[in-house]
Amino acid sequence: MSFKIGDEAPNFKAPTTLGEIDFHEWIGDNWAVLFSHPKAFTPVCTTELGYMAGLKNEFDKRNVKIIGLSVDEINDQKKWLNDIKETQGNAVNYPLICDTNKEIANQYGMIHPNASDTLTVRTVFIIGPDKKIKLMLSYPASTGRNFDEILRVVDSLQLTAKHKVATPVNWKQGEDCIIIPSVNDDEAKKSYPNGWKSPKPYIRIVPQPK
Ligand code: BEZ
Repeated sequence: MSFKIGDEAPNFKAPTTLGEIDFHEWIGDNWAVLFSHPKAFTPVCTTELGYMAGLKNEFDKRNVKIIGLSVDEINDQKKWLNDIKETQGNAVNYPLICDTNKEIANQYGMIHPNASDTLTVRTVFIIGPDKKIKLMLSYPASTGRNFDEILRVVDSLQLTAKHKVATPVNWKQGEDCIIIPSVNDDEAKKSYPNGWKSPKPYIRIVPQPK
């Protein structure tokens, strides 16, 4: 993988559990979360995919499409869906890419050969409507991810795409934000005529913009 945050997410065509897709066309004008997991019929992955199904409504509200990926055969993926529904209480309501020949996994750096040269690790990519990479994460197979955190990052990304603010540590929707350093005080006063809290000149705290 040679791309980084800010680069275009490589496009691809792929079979999924919900039919063939062209990735960029599938994203359309939405945001997207692409996440890989190691393997069908494994316990941590079962919990992750079930949890994502439960969160889909929250992603929908934010115009974010979600899609999983593994290098499994499509029939294995489809059979596994029954187990996820039965054990996690949520039916998987989003597509799973079947990257059997590992083309996408290699393109996106989802295979970390010193961890496993056959299976994908747990990666997450958040992609904007402009098809640019906004976030990249890699987790080891043994650690299930915190997908609430991905939703939190989406909230931050969507806010900071609209307003010249950044979000501080552990920020959540509705909490105070920080005016970005590239906005000088004169410019900031136009957006924040009531000023800001400033424990240091370079820390300018304002309520979350509407
Ligand atoms: C799991 O999903 O439980 C898992 C998959 C691969 C390696 C370790 C755990």
